[in-house]
Amino acid sequence: MSLNFITRIPLWGSFFICVNFTSQTDGGMTNNQQNQFSIMDYHTLSNYKEVPITHCSLQLNVDFDQRRLSGSVTHLISNDKKSSQLVLDTKYLQIDSIADQNGGDLSFNYGENDELLGLPLIIQLNDNTEKVQIWYSTTDKSEALDWLVPEQTAGKDYPFMYTQGQSIFTRSWIPIQDSPGLRVTYSADVQVPTGLFPVMSASNPQTTNDDNMYHFEMQQPISPYLIALAVGNLEFRSIDHRTGVYAEPSMLEACANELVDMGRMVDVAEDLYGEYDWDRYDVIVLPPSFPFGGMENPRLTFATPTIIAGDRSLVSLIAHELAHSWSGNLVTNATWDDFWLNEGFTVYFERRIMEALYGKDYVEMLALLGYQDLLHEVENLKPSLQTLKLNLKNLHPDNGMSDIAYEKGYFFLRMLEAAVGRPKMDQFLKDYFKNHKFQTIVTEDFIVYMKEHLLDGNSDEVNIEEWVYQPGLPSNCPIVVSERFRKVEASIEEFTNGSKANKMSTDNWSTHEWIHFIKHLPIGTTADQLADLDSAFELSQSGNSEILAVWFLQSIRADYQTAFVPLENFLTRVGRRKFLQPLYEELSKTEKHKEWAKNVYAKARSNYHYVSFNTVDRILNY
Ligand code: BES
Ligand code: ZN
Repeated sequence: MSLNFITRIPLWGSFFICVNFTSQTDGGMTNNQQNQFSIMDYHTLSNYKEVPITHCSLQLNVDFDQRRLSGSVTHLISNDKKSSQLVLDTKYLQIDSIADQNGGDLSFNYGENDELLGLPLIIQLNDNTEKVQIWYSTTDKSEALDWLVPEQTAGKDYPFMYTQGQSIFTRSWIPIQDSPGLRVTYSADVQVPTGLFPVMSASNPQTTNDDNMYHFEMQQPISPYLIALAVGNLEFRSIDHRTGVYAEPSMLEACANELVDMGRMVDVAEDLYGEYDWDRYDVIVLPPSFPFGGMENPRLTFATPTIIAGDRSLVSLIAHELAHSWSGNLVTNATWDDFWLNEGFTVYFERRIMEALYGKDYVEMLALLGYQDLLHEVENLKPSLQTLKLNLKNLHPDNGMSDIAYEKGYFFLRMLEAAVGRPKMDQFLKDYFKNHKFQTIVTEDFIVYMKEHLLDGNSDEVNIEEWVYQPGLPSNCPIVVSERFRKVEASIEEFTNGSKANKMSTDNWSTHEWIHFIKHLPIGTTADQLADLDSAFELSQSGNSEILAVWFLQSIRADYQTAFVPLENFLTRVGRRKFLQPLYEELSKTEKHKEWAKNVYAKARSNYHYVSFNTVDRILNY
């Protein structure tokens, strides 16, 4: 059965258009198609709606000498309509041969290459084709892959590699229908060199074995961007019965100590929004080139080592990636235009976990820092990228990765919570996750669901249209007040009025108070003032990456030379884009600093993943 109805959806700016959409509730449909508007993901060239892959089985050899993955993937397909072709996304892959379930060759050719989306692989199917096995290897251009030499690891003895699938990089290491609107189960057999240990977003081994061959299963259907692999000299340490950490041996102790609250986080998350559906929750702490803070690969979050601060002050990142086990991995954005459904919900959920564990005044600091980032985004981003529902056609989906999705999404949900009350909001979210689990949805699905189940048809007051489809911040955006930050602001005032740094009372300041302090030092703060702060608090030597990142920004602005040596170390060691981008942008503002930055970058670039060097190349016109 399918229901056709017409709705009015405001799109891009102030004009309204009519969109005709279909909600399919056919009992025979897979989860992919349930309750979905007939919106096609335009960041794939595959025919994922027509002939969806349902299961992928990988056989891969990891070759560190050639920096190559090679082997095969076997796709189980569902071809109810008896299409004659299976079209897959590929980018920078070498395809060798393709066979069906009986080993019979299938012929293939390529569609037109697209700079952004890659090269569609068109495979001819027979009437009885059920499985398609593709023999292939990756190339040195494969964007998902980062290959590290031993010097780039903590232990310095073994190489390391990892994949990053989100948003459209999985196609550069697996020929697949690379749309978040698809869900597949997968299994994998991975062969690695002696001494190395592979882990995936799947069931994982906890110890090495002698034959260097490892088997993985992901039995819950996930979107292709969540298929992930990391290989290194790893060890595992349990936190509680269902959580644990993988890291290089020399870092394991520090990582386990930092992440000791992980088990409680999962408990708290379950209390809030329902059972954890993925069995285990583990984290791997990667080498510093990892381009993100964290990536929510199911069952195994990939994390940057820059959260290992020694004082557990940056663990909200783990709460964030864990929250994605519901928002993102269980209920998934069907297109990258709906990215806020993943990230906005996750920030809201993350802060609820943090509130339950560390209290409201702690979370209000995080929320206020988020709000400031959001204001900055609203001032600087072009209006077409300021809407929750995006239009990323012809753009790389990473363009939508701004604080609009994260923080405007968060404040939208926080506003709804304020409007209906927390008990109702919580019940609604719990039901939302339960009702949509293992489905992929678009913004409009959510709006229909929310109008019916949260707002009881009373949606005018909350101004959904403006929140979702208009740039900027609606007037009913919640206001965050943080008493702890007020005190920090008083300190800023005293300091800028001439009081010395060693007179400041900072004894019980957390990392977040320091970030707030440093960020809000007024324009015109001098190198001498920074030197005074530095001698009192040793900020240039901070072991906390978030503090360092804001401190270096101020140091560049004030041309505070003492900080440039540690800044150079930071830029060469850390590949996290969130830190690199603002630093290189700030450095590019004067010729002198830009020259300096180019010199540093010449040494640092090979330590960055594609995601990061692609961004920095553009900033420095490299
Ligand atoms: N899923 C994102 C990372 C991502 C987004 C990768 C878009 C590629 C494209 C992850 O959950 C995330 O949001 N990471 C943040 C940390 C978080 C605490 C805001 C990051 O990496 O900074
Ligand atoms: Zn996220």
